[in-house]
Amino acid sequence: MIKTVSTNPFTDQRPGTSGLRKKVTVFEQENYTENFIQSLFNVLEGFNGKTLVLGGDGRFYNDRVAQIAIRMAAANGFGRVIVGRGGLLSTPAASNIIRKYGAYGGIILSASHNMGGPTGDFGIKYNGGNGGPAPEKITEAIFAQSKTISSYKISDAPDIYLNTIGSSTVDGLTIEVIDPVADYATLMQSLFDFDLIRTLIKSGFTMKFDGMSAITGPYGTRIFEDLLGAAKGTVMSGVPLPDFGGHHPDPNLVHAKELCDLVIGGKGPDFGAASDGDGDRNLIVGKGIYVTPSDSLAIIAANAICALGYSKGIAGVARSMPTSCAADRVAQKLKINQFETPTGWKFFGNLLDAGLITVCGEESFGTGSNHVREKDGVWAVLMWLNILAHRKQSVHSIVLSHWAEYGRNYYTRHDYEEVSTDAANGLMNGLRGKLPTLIGQNNIVKADDFSYDDPVDGSRTEGQGIRLIFENGSRIIYRLSGTGTSGATLRIYIESYEADNSKQGLDSQTALASLITMASNVSDLGKFTGRTSPTVIT
Ligand code: G1P
Ligand code: ZN
Repeated sequence: MIKTVSTNPFTDQRPGTSGLRKKVTVFEQENYTENFIQSLFNVLEGFNGKTLVLGGDGRFYNDRVAQIAIRMAAANGFGRVIVGRGGLLSTPAASNIIRKYGAYGGIILSASHNMGGPTGDFGIKYNGGNGGPAPEKITEAIFAQSKTISSYKISDAPDIYLNTIGSSTVDGLTIEVIDPVADYATLMQSLFDFDLIRTLIKSGFTMKFDGMSAITGPYGTRIFEDLLGAAKGTVMSGVPLPDFGGHHPDPNLVHAKELCDLVIGGKGPDFGAASDGDGDRNLIVGKGIYVTPSDSLAIIAANAICALGYSKGIAGVARSMPTSCAADRVAQKLKINQFETPTGWKFFGNLLDAGLITVCGEESFGTGSNHVREKDGVWAVLMWLNILAHRKQSVHSIVLSHWAEYGRNYYTRHDYEEVSTDAANGLMNGLRGKLPTLIGQNNIVKADDFSYDDPVDGSRTEGQGIRLIFENGSRIIYRLSGTGTSGATLRIYIESYEADNSKQGLDSQTALASLITMASNVSDLGKFTGRTSPTVIT
């Protein structure tokens, strides 16, 4: 039976860079989750009788919210919910299911790479019929609804069993439980040359994939071990756990340290990779080398033609503004489109839908293409495997030859986590106030707050990060995170270009040392935050 429940609005349900992300304890408040889902349904139009895709990264509370979402989808008039077994779907797999089955949209339960467990984070994202994150006009409308909502609709049916594949009905809603991996694996086989990769692996090439006790374990096991023939045990931490084993499921040098030490150290396998909580991020390492995500994007753009699904060439490449300019050089050489967008995958959606780009990426370990409308961790790993199998070179030599051809964009990101919101805003406002006076000092030729005019729908997005651009193309960028759940996180991105092959071998912190110091001084970092060093360097 359908019930209408009275509720009071919450004031803090504004979706951030990637959906509504809060502590589990916030979502556990009475009606909090229901209010947000009803606000979403109130904003959407014309879904009666249509299909909603549902799945999440398996973190704590995923199972409860999956049940709530299904009951509310039934009460609000959806015709069908396609849900991954156990309520699981990686973010890119969910995007694929939405597109493949022509769904109206999808709800993804995830807080990405944030910590899980009862004291960790939870999140709800909405993706539209193109499979991509809802644009800002929808997320802002949801926020507006959430501030005035007075009731929600929910079925009072008992919990639905989601652990076996099959179909059932609740209050007129058909619930189809599907294998979370199968459709995704089929898509990957259509994009990459699995035979070629299998041959590489048979020839003795070795790899490790760290599932970080999060969603990509089952995807990695099926694809790398079962389909591509990598040895059993290639996938480490391959079983999704509600608290990710107490670790931070973020594939970077800090949180995937064990893998990095093993592979970069040179005594382990030839290739290492990892993905995050919900499977959209990727880390790529080889013997003796860590591939920065910005370089990875550029190398993928330059070599995509090696892969089956991209063999006709790519239409263009886009990167988020703070991502290094390495990909731009590839686009110039290939004479293809090139775009610079604000941070967040949602800004790539229109460009992909319009066919203006094929490949896109962010410095934050996100890479992807037009095959779905999310970044895709396992896709990036397969792309690298396909390139390695085709070029028959090591990761290290592919990166070195890329730098030799295009030059090297030294790059680093310094994060200052859990800074007080006042201090972070003070620093950003201080910088904003002095932008005009910075031009001309220290060879700064441009100092602004980045804004973006979407070439497809004409929308304008402002306040997307403060940029100091130097005469020689070096850049310092400051922005505040839109995904954190406690205090503020200040991100400082630093980049400089080195064309001279003989000077490309430095450690990036060394190569960028003077810009790093300048970044602190110009922003009065110490004065505002009391910090002398970052919490995370990537
Ligand atoms: C971070 C990354 C951004 C990415 C987002 C979602 O957002 O910087 O590139 O799209 O996570 O994975 P931020 O916390 O910086 O707002
Ligand atoms: Zn993620």
